[in-house]
Amino acid sequence: MITKQKGTYDVVGMDAKKRKYVCDVIDAICEKYNYTYIETPIFESSELFHRSVGESSDIVTKETYDFVDRGERNITLRPEGTAGVVRSFIENKMYGNLSEPVKVYYNGPMFRYERPQSGRNRQFTQFGIEVIGTDDVMSDAEVISLAYNTYKLLGIDVKVQLNSLGDNESRDNYRKALMEYFKPNIDSLCEDCKVRLEKNPLRILDCKVDANSDILKNAPKTIDYLNEDSLNRFNKLQEYLDLMEIDYEVNTNLVRGLDYYNHTVFEIVADIPDFGSQSVLGGGGRYNGLIEQLDGPSTPAIGFAMGLDRTILAMESLDVKFKVRENIDIFIMYGNLDEKETACYLIQDLRMNGFVCETDYMGKSFKNQFKSADRFNSKFLVILNSDDIKNYKVKVKDNETKEEELVSINDLVDYLDMKL
Ligand code: HAM
Repeated sequence: MITKQKGTYDVVGMDAKKRKYVCDVIDAICEKYNYTYIETPIFESSELFHRSVGESSDIVTKETYDFVDRGERNITLRPEGTAGVVRSFIENKMYGNLSEPVKVYYNGPMFRYERPQSGRNRQFTQFGIEVIGTDDVMSDAEVISLAYNTYKLLGIDVKVQLNSLGDNESRDNYRKALMEYFKPNIDSLCEDCKVRLEKNPLRILDCKVDANSDILKNAPKTIDYLNEDSLNRFNKLQEYLDLMEIDYEVNTNLVRGLDYYNHTVFEIVADIPDFGSQSVLGGGGRYNGLIEQLDGPSTPAIGFAMGLDRTILAMESLDVKFKVRENIDIFIMYGNLDEKETACYLIQDLRMNGFVCETDYMGKSFKNQFKSADRFNSKFLVILNSDDIKNYKVKVKDNETKEEELVSINDLVDYLDMKL
């Protein structure tokens, strides 16, 4: 038997219903914030991710699914959504008429060759948003508020961990300070960190191997290297978040695992029993340099992404109610082939009038069709009988009260509309 690949999963049955509910909540909130849906390809040139996510990031060095296609092109399955959106922004010249920022959201599969565990897969689904074309601090607050409120609407109590990496000048100063700090201590860090010191010492701070070492804990803090402008900006953001009553805390150790960030970085965390201590459900930040770095015109931007699978697991672990459809409106029952033709016509009519309908496709007896209707939790039964049909009537049974009524086929839609 051919089985699924390690780190992948099927979304079937109730899992699919739960996922649909979460996606519906996300779509609705994005529309409220006036974001537009965007789709970009699942595979892109490898260069795109090397130049954006970063040569020194774990994602690019260890986790991408790379292959050479039949035309000898170096291709990568996207490990995240931001790079593709930015490529699309540049390629489609969306910068041409930037009287308003471009605000987009996406939801789709991403691929990272990670060690699979609960909430961490090799193919996973990410929902993300990007706001391109404004440097206004209030847009940082908007992105954080959308992320925060999405979890609230889903019923998860989350906290925002917030930090600032500052502008280029602040980041350069911080980078130098980290270099000086880590150099004498480098022998006690892992082999990867030795490489990181040369390539990008910021990456040492989110090393999974050395995470608990005192050397990392006592490392210089970003906040002490912010220049005046960057610090003012960070303070302003906190004022906006206070006004929006968003539960956040400053975490000066937060640097994020992708290379493109400057100024605001944040993660959404929650206490999830099944995941151990505080778990990261999503994260994002500002990436003002990325569009220029990918040969577009200098354009500020900020975004956020969250793992759908991880969010659903968190909801399950917290026993949050998924509002999934648990019943159908009408089950149409029939006995012989003539009645089946009427069922065929009626189900089309009822569905087109907005009812959730089902019928029998297995040649079941009436007794078993009653059982099917119960399995679907049908609120009403439409029971077809040739004699009634001759009089242009059908029997409608309320499946809860068990009351029955003969209803003219012409009045059926209005009748059920009134009852439901
Ligand atoms: P990220 O922190 O790498 O950021 O990923 C965002 C979220 O995707 C994570 O917090 C997690 O929920 C989910 N995720 C990541 N890897 C996995 C995995 N292997 N299995 C399951 N879920 C996973 C980004 O990807 C940035 N593009 C976010 C962003 C958008 N920054 C600016 N705009």
